[in-house]
Amino acid sequence: MEGRNFIEWTDKEFSINNDILDAQHKGFVKMINDIFNNINLIDRSKEFEYFECVKEDISNYLKIHFYTEEKIMGKLNICKELVKAHIKEHDKFIENFDMIIKNFKKEDLNLDELVFFLIDWIADHVQTIDKKTFKEVN
Ligand SMILES: [Fe+2]
Ligand SMILES: [Fe+2]
Repeated sequence: MEGRNFIEWTDKEFSINNDILDAQHKGFVKMINDIFNNINLIDRSKEFEYFECVKEDISNYLKIHFYTEEKIMGKLNICKELVKAHIKEHDKFIENFDMIIKNFKKEDLNLDELVFFLIDWIADHVQTIDKKTFKEVN
């Protein structure tokens, strides 16, 4: 059975008019939706184990995405200051996220909160800075 989507992708809301990056953003949204559905399916006592399995996947997905996005930005004619500020946002997020996953302990694990945090961040980042950056070249 297909689970319910926690976040719904719409081109209007999320597309930045770059096929590769749109596909990666979509993939991230799917990943978050899957995690959200799985947390609702599993026993609370199994959440920590589940988190241990997915945390690296999330972190790796984001690192690959940021790397791709930064490579593409570098090749396009985009204002250098904007690119610099954008890369800083990516680095800051990865630093934050890695700290969160490193410090998560079994007793304070709240996966719902983590999912909300990821969704808020990614939606805001794509809709503001990703859109703004790629608007210059579209
Ligand atoms: Fe992005
Ligand atoms: Fe970005």
